[in-house]
Amino acid sequence: MLKVLCAVGMISAACISSAKPPFLITFKEYYKPNPSSVLGQAKCEICHGQVPRRNPYGKELKKLLDSSSDGKLTVDMLKQVEGADSDGDGYTNADEIIGGVLPGDPASHPSGPAGKATSVPVTQASNSIIPANGFHPIVIHFPIALFLFGVLLEFVCLRKKVDALGTAAVWNIHGALASMAIVVPTGVAAWLVGGHKLEGAMLFHMICAGSSLLLMAVTIVTRRKAGNSSGAYWAILLLTALVIGATGFFGGQMVYG
Ligand code: HEC
Repeated sequence: MLKVLCAVGMISAACISSAKPPFLITFKEYYKPNPSSVLGQAKCEICHGQVPRRNPYGKELKKLLDSSSDGKLTVDMLKQVEGADSDGDGYTNADEIIGGVLPGDPASHPSGPAGKATSVPVTQASNSIIPANGFHPIVIHFPIALFLFGVLLEFVCLRKKVDALGTAAVWNIHGALASMAIVVPTGVAAWLVGGHKLEGAMLFHMICAGSSLLLMAVTIVTRRKAGNSSGAYWAILLLTALVIGATGFFGGQMVYG
């Protein structure tokens, strides 16, 4: 009896895990719902009430699937049902997806008045030309590279006693600070658009980013006051490099972790 139960359990687990999770992936990859929203946290319940029973949104997709030849859920099918109000709560599926709530559950709907959107803007969907985190993960490499290269030049300058390298180092460090004028706004934009909560990696990232900015300025001032052979300058320089590294680490955790 136990063996039979195990077998049934394993078979159904295999069915569930192999059957429709790709639908969930298709949905999430296309719409990229805000991870802290109801929709972002939802999984199978986006289309199912109690798996395998489908909710009204799932039923609508099932109709399209039945008329397709290969039984695969496509982005095109998702788009076709955006204008409908599957769960009949007065908000179109597009409204609910934009609002980060469940399109197949009448008890879950946006709090504002129904906007009657018939499609989800492409800036939200993944075929957008603007990456999910704005341009922050791209531009962020400028200050990091400039600063670390500055540290390297400073080191070689001190060892080889070539003043020109020190001048170049200062230029790099100034460049790193200047590039923050682009990096910080893109970071704040990514934070607001992404709707990340100010906790965990996000919180550490913000604290480290703020400290990096401050420390870069202190590095520049210290060099001007104390010169590049002073211990104080090297302490600040290396501390700043470390904090920049930590900022990148926590930032990376949010993008890839
Ligand atoms: C984007 C909508 C969507 C999501 C998300 C989704 N499903 Fe489905 N699921 C469907 C549709 C539509 C069908 C019907 C497929 C067909 O007939 O080919 C289905 C069918 C199934 C079936 C087969 C049962 C039946 O009656 O045909 C199972 C089991 C299932 N889903 C499990 C899951 C599980 C588990 C998850 C979460 C990991 C999930 N689904 C997420 C839309 C979805």
